[in-house]
Amino acid sequence: METRTLPADPAGIAEAARLLGEGRVVAFPTETVYGLGGLASRLDAISEIFSAKGRPSTDPLILHLPQPDLDKAAADGWLARPVPSKAIQLAQAFWPGPLTLILKRGPKAHPEMTAGLDTVAVRCPAHPAARALLQKLGAPLAAPSANRFGCISPTDAKAVREELGGKIPLILDGGSCSIGLESTVVNLVSRTPEILRPGAVTPDQMAKILGQAPPLRPNATSVEMSQNAPGQLISHYAPQCPLYLCDSPLEIFHPEAFHLLFRAKPSPPKGSFILLGQEGHPDSAARELYRALRTADASGSKRILVENVPDSPWAEAIRDRLLRASSGTATWNGQTWKLLPRRGV
Ligand code: TXA
Ligand code: MG
Repeated sequence: METRTLPADPAGIAEAARLLGEGRVVAFPTETVYGLGGLASRLDAISEIFSAKGRPSTDPLILHLPQPDLDKAAADGWLARPVPSKAIQLAQAFWPGPLTLILKRGPKAHPEMTAGLDTVAVRCPAHPAARALLQKLGAPLAAPSANRFGCISPTDAKAVREELGGKIPLILDGGSCSIGLESTVVNLVSRTPEILRPGAVTPDQMAKILGQAPPLRPNATSVEMSQNAPGQLISHYAPQCPLYLCDSPLEIFHPEAFHLLFRAKPSPPKGSFILLGQEGHPDSAARELYRALRTADASGSKRILVENVPDSPWAEAIRDRLLRASSGTATWNGQTWKLLPRRGV
């Protein structure tokens, strides 16, 4: 299939809406990462999303709403009533924006989209092109990130083409994503809210609305556990080249590695490296992370070594993605590098 790229201007958005109206799928920009959208009302579109990504049908999709309005989504049949008041408060505070809420599914949300669960993930994205597209359609889009299953999420149109070129008819090019990591996912059907995936909306920000910070569900530590909890796949967002996490700031460099650094060095490594973000700007480290992983992957290096992530409001989200991308840990024992495989991979 030929994959066209069009700018996310009114003409491009009109063409995307036309294809989506026919039940086709289109990649489009959001503020977090690019999504691969299809009309949530159409089973043919949902099934094309799963097949283009090579995603197992057990991994549910996010419903992207045209308006930041949970009551309307429930009235339209996407969500069950009553919508919990905590969800309404979070949506009022953070939508449109990078927050996904897990709620009880309404009759209109196809089980094929929700992987047979009685819950559905919803968010209203903030990117102007995503909003314009959703508003033109006047209907929600089911959209996962626009990458092949288990691979790195795309943060620009070129990366979408690397992932899905030849498999989808259209990519809307809206430039680079301003956040660069997927949305925060919060479960609101559990007894108390819990974070399933850390992201740009932090526990502290949510504490201001909910009265207390929702805890982060511990990462799945085994393959069996990850299969029981959607979105908790322990291997995910992964480059092809093995990636190792270092437990400290890097002073010694590995002769055969591509290094991802978070701190400027007086004498940087001789081999290849990328300094992520500028110190004091952790949001730019998050924004650049996936592009850096793609560059490191394409470098031909035998392995990628990642310096430990400094504390910041973004650290939890960056650490979560790096852990899932990793093959193990790297430690300098004073004489040599020890590379240890991750358990449960
Ligand atoms: O920022 C984002 O959220 C991007 C953009 C495109 O909106 N989308 C995204 O979608 O990251 P995806 O499908 O790559 O990740 C959605 C995550 C998956 O880990 C999925 O398992 C989880 O949300 N999820 C979806 N529905 C769920 C549900 N009912 N219960 C628990 N987890 C769910
Ligand atoms: Mg994804």
